[in-house]
Amino acid sequence: MSAYPNAAETAVTDTAAAPALCAPLPVLGRDVTVPLVTGGEVTYAALDYAASAPALQRVWDDVAAYAPYYGSVHRGAGYLSQLSTDLFENSRTQVHEFLGCREGDQVVFTRSTTDSLGLLAAALPAGCQVFVFETEHHASLLPWRGSRVTYLNAPRTPGDAIRTLERALADRDPHGPALVCVTGASNVTGELWPVRELAAAAHAHGARIVLDAAQLAPHHPVSVEELDVDWVAFSGHKLYAPFGSGVLAGRADWLREAEPYLAGGGASRTVARRSDGGVDVEWHTSAARHEAGSPNVIGVYAIASACKALTEAGFDSLVAREQHLIAKVREGLAEVPEVRVLSLFGDDAPRVGVLSFVVDGWNSSHFAAALSAEYGIGVRDGLFCAHPLVRTLLGSDPQDVGECGAPEAEPGERSLNAIRVSFGAGTPDEHLERFVRAVKELVRDGAQWKYRTEDGRCVPDRG
Ligand SMILES: Cc1ncc(COP(=O)(O)O)c(C=O)c1O
Repeated sequence: MSAYPNAAETAVTDTAAAPALCAPLPVLGRDVTVPLVTGGEVTYAALDYAASAPALQRVWDDVAAYAPYYGSVHRGAGYLSQLSTDLFENSRTQVHEFLGCREGDQVVFTRSTTDSLGLLAAALPAGCQVFVFETEHHASLLPWRGSRVTYLNAPRTPGDAIRTLERALADRDPHGPALVCVTGASNVTGELWPVRELAAAAHAHGARIVLDAAQLAPHHPVSVEELDVDWVAFSGHKLYAPFGSGVLAGRADWLREAEPYLAGGGASRTVARRSDGGVDVEWHTSAARHEAGSPNVIGVYAIASACKALTEAGFDSLVAREQHLIAKVREGLAEVPEVRVLSLFGDDAPRVGVLSFVVDGWNSSHFAAALSAEYGIGVRDGLFCAHPLVRTLLGSDPQDVGECGAPEAEPGERSLNAIRVSFGAGTPDEHLERFVRAVKELVRDGAQWKYRTEDGRCVPDRG
């Protein structure tokens, strides 16, 4: 499967002819039950994978098997320190392979995608111009504000995105470095961006490109080399490894020349007092330069374990199953005229298992609260840390604030926030069947319970 599929590759149209789908991968929490406000308990349907996905059972088992052998890494002389150092550095190699990195690319372990992009922003060469679409998640929209940044208007087709970028780059000061930052899959619509084409446009104009793969990597193979991106960033907790680590991988030069992200032990090779009383430091030129302090060995190992588990499960079958789930949800929602699914690129756009929608006549927070309290379904409501994009899709005023406690929208009135359902490798069909049934029942019959706003959240009113 290519790293950026076209619609024909991902669409599941002829289910009769489709091969048997794989089972969901076992994840932690799959048997957890939660109480319903209307009485009784149900198995929790975690449909907020885009925010944070449950740990793969395999990741948890690997971490548990390693935990007794945990030891300080890099400079420890003991057996467990050496074992842990090997495990940590082997994890780096595995992530390098998982991402299809080029020889010489560095894999830097960070805390998250936000941290990875913050690190790259801090490593920009002097005078670097940055180009970013306004549709980005705040993690990729905001770190560049200290630089010469150009925000590009929301495109309405992938081709429009490429043309918009080409125009902006053609107008740029051709001297000096430039960086394009783009998401692989939207955390709002799930739609895939034409990463390879945007990378080609960037390079044709002498710019570099960083791929925010926070939503892409958990759903789709990512190959740095094949996509020809310069860097890629993702988070462990969205890749079924919620232990506090993330990744920035790619070209070594800007990273090697930059000041260390954090100054401290691990990043420095030698430190010596100067005769004038100051301190001289020789920093590492490897990934360690930006990994000062004691690293999160468990978090890093968990990421490597998840990479291995996804690779072994096979992205072909994971993607096929996810596309089957996406088709089912979209078909179900299409039967409810009050539901409007948000989309930038249109119905045929290839996408991952992330869908946002609004329901005519409903405040999104109220709807999400009812899904949770009455059906045991965990979705998300709001603007999903992509305020400009969601407001564009909702057609709302940039000054409007979609607060959780906003009154219910009148039928036909614009919602100020949206509901997002997201899923992945661990999601059983039943969770999405329940979700579609719940949407239909809530729209048809209304909520069974009364809700009120508490601390800015919509919650069941328990009298
Ligand atoms: C597309 C995208 N980029 C970046 C991030 C930030 O990820 P993290 O919160 O793990 O830093 C998210 C989180 O939702 C995201 O969806």
